[in-house]
Amino acid sequence: MRVISCRGVTRRYHGRGVEPVVAVADVDLEIEEASFVAIEGPSGSGKTTLLGLIAGLEPPDAGEIIMLGHDLSRLTAAERARLRQQRIGIVFQSFGLIASLRAGDNVALPLALAGVPERQREDRARSALAEVGLESAFAARIDELSGGERQRVGIARAVVIDPAIILADEPTGSLDEENGAGVLQLLTDAVQQRKASLVLVTHDPTSAALADRHYRMRDGHLTAAVPA
Ligand SMILES: Nc1ncnc2c1ncn2[C@@H]1O[C@H](COP(=O)(O)OP(=O)(O)O)[C@@H](O)[C@H]1O
Ligand SMILES: [Mg+2]
Repeated sequence: MRVISCRGVTRRYHGRGVEPVVAVADVDLEIEEASFVAIEGPSGSGKTTLLGLIAGLEPPDAGEIIMLGHDLSRLTAAERARLRQQRIGIVFQSFGLIASLRAGDNVALPLALAGVPERQREDRARSALAEVGLESAFAARIDELSGGERQRVGIARAVVIDPAIILADEPTGSLDEENGAGVLQLLTDAVQQRKASLVLVTHDPTSAALADRHYRMRDGHLTAAVPA
């Protein structure tokens, strides 16, 4: 089964110049169930914009996005939010954790948004933290955690809803090589175990090469990377 299908997807931004910036240019992309797709490209090539379109955070200017059988353009903003909250996990470069909440409460938050009953949330958050090797960090403050630990909390938060798709936007971009490799391993293990699909965006060709399918993004255009 196909979980994401993009056809001719285009997004332009009207900035200071006369010509709009074409952040995403006529992108076609098919992502199968339980597959790992990497999109490698330099800063400014349109990677984050493309992930935002796939997540239904904003509509494309042209083209069609089918996500888990839903044409995103036919859903209301509330329906898109619901789909995202229930089926999609997102991992950010700068972790995106809420500093005023304990680690476990950060992980439990998506469960509340997805409508999971309160009495189940703590157990599920604890087991997601255990999955990333942080079983003892449930009550930890975010500022007590290292960068690698924060991103492991970010992974626990992304997987806790048992998503069909995980979108990871440069998840190792703020980490040193060793912690980055560990985080990437946890992420790929977590998606494999759930038979979820992973869309990894990165500027690092080495991590992109781990994927089942490897694309390059340049100036908004997506092309299949040819193996070396
Ligand atoms: N909200 C925005 N308003 C105007 N221009 C934007 C906006 N978001 C992104 N851009 C522009 O779109 C292009 C792609 O950006 P982005 O998707 O963030 O690339 P990447 O994630 O690969 O670094 C860049 O030229 C960027 O400046
Ligand atoms: Mg980006």
